[in-house]
Amino acid sequence: MSRFLVEGGHPLSGEVPVQGAKNSVLPILAATLLNGGVTELRGCPRLRDVDASVEILRYLGCDAVWQEDVLTVDTSGLCRWDIADTLMREMRSSAIFLGAILARCGQAELTYPGGCELGPRPIDLHISGLRQLGAEIEEEGGALHCRAPALRGRDIVLSLPSVGATENLMLAACGAEGVTRIVNAAREPEIVDLQNYLRACGAEVSGAGTDQVSVTGKRPLHDCTYTVMPDRIAAATYLCAAASAGGEVRLLGARERHLSTVTAALREAGCTVTGDSGGITCRAPERLRSVSPVRTAPYPGFPTDAQSVLMAALLRSRGTTVFEENIFTSRYRHVDELIRMGGSIQVSGRVAVVTGVERLHGACVRSTDLRGGAALCVAALAAEGVSHVENISHIDRGYEDLARDLESLGAKILREET
Ligand code: UD1
Repeated sequence: MSRFLVEGGHPLSGEVPVQGAKNSVLPILAATLLNGGVTELRGCPRLRDVDASVEILRYLGCDAVWQEDVLTVDTSGLCRWDIADTLMREMRSSAIFLGAILARCGQAELTYPGGCELGPRPIDLHISGLRQLGAEIEEEGGALHCRAPALRGRDIVLSLPSVGATENLMLAACGAEGVTRIVNAAREPEIVDLQNYLRACGAEVSGAGTDQVSVTGKRPLHDCTYTVMPDRIAAATYLCAAASAGGEVRLLGARERHLSTVTAALREAGCTVTGDSGGITCRAPERLRSVSPVRTAPYPGFPTDAQSVLMAALLRSRGTTVFEENIFTSRYRHVDELIRMGGSIQVSGRVAVVTGVERLHGACVRSTDLRGGAALCVAALAAEGVSHVENISHIDRGYEDLARDLESLGAKILREET
C-alpha cells in the first residue's frame, strides 16, 4: 500500500510536460492487434492501466517492449482469442479488445470488464453494435462467447454517444466487409486520436470528432509509428492544482482546444489562462470565486473526468458553485473525503453544491477512484498542514507520476510505501 503525504500552502510555479493520454493509448493498444505487425507508440504514458493492456497483449501472444516513453508492440505472434478474467477485471478499457480480437480472429472469449466504481458501467451498446455487424454473442455467467465468421459493415445508431462503444465499433469495423457508419458517435478528442492511429496503419476511417464515424473495412494494414496525444485530463488536473494552490504553471504540450470548458470555468473563477501552440499557462489568484453551474456532458461539454478536480479547486472559493454530474451515477465518492478536509459540499442525487470556505485543513483521506483520488491531492495542496492521501493505487492507474509532476511545480508531496 502506498500513500501521498502532502503539505499544503505552497503556491505552484514552473512548467511540466503533460503525459500521453491514457484514454487514447488504451484503445490504441487494443487497435495494435489489427495490423498484425509492429507499432511504435511514442509518448506512451507508463501507467497501471497501460501495464494492464500490455499484460493482455502478452497473454494473447504479442510482444511489447519499452524504451523510455516508446512502447513497441508486435502483434504478429497473436495465438489466442480469449482474455483471462483476472486481466479483464483490471480495467474498464479491456472491453475494447473485444472489437479488435473479433476483427482479427473472427471469434473472442472474454468476461465483463472491471474499472473504477462510478456506478453501473454496462457494455450493452458495445454488444448490440457488434451484433449488428454480424457477431454472434452469447452471455453466460459474466462470460462473453463471441463468434463472427464474417462481419459486415452497416449503419449503427448509438442511443447515447458512448466513448467506449464508438471505439470498439471502429475497431471491429476495420475487419468488416464494406462501410460501417457509426451514428451518434462520441466526439471526444481521443476518438480522433484513435482514427489518426488507424489511418497511420492504412485504415480508411473518417468523421472522428463529429457525430458520424465511417470505416471502410478489410483494408490491408501495415506497421506504423505513432505519437499519442497529450492527456487533457492530466492537464485539467494540473490546471486545477494551480488554481487550488495559487501560483503560475505552464503545461507543456497541453492543447487548450481540448479543454475549453475547463479553462472557461477557471477563467470565471479568476484565473488567467492562456493557451498557445506550446501549451497552456495558468496564473491563479490568492482566492478563487465561485462559477456558474458545472454540468458534465459528453464532449465538447464539461468532462466528467474533470469534475472532481475542479470541485477540489473551488473548495476555498468565495461563493457557491453547483455541480451536476450527468454521465455516471456514483461520481461523488470523493465528496466525503473532501469534507474531512473542511470542504462544505452537499450532495443530492446528481447535484453537488459547494459552498466555499476560507480554510481547509490537512486530514487523512482515502482515494475512492482515479479522478477522485487526484481531487484529494488538489485539495490537499490548499489545506493547512499535512494530508495523508491513502489508497493511491487508483491514482497510479491514470497518472504517470503525480507526485513527481506536482513536486517539480514546487508542491510539497511525498510518496510513502506503507
Ligand atoms: C470513457 C473514459 C472515461 C470517461 C468516460 C466519459 C476511457 C478509457 N474512459 O469511459 O474516463 O469518464 O468515457 O467521458 O476512455 N453506457 C451505457 N452502455 C454502454 C456504454 C456506456 O449505458 O454500452 C453509459 C455509461 O454507463 C455512462 C455513459 O454511457 O453513463 C458514458 O459512458 P462511456 O462514454 O461509454 O464511457 P467509457 O467509454 O466507459
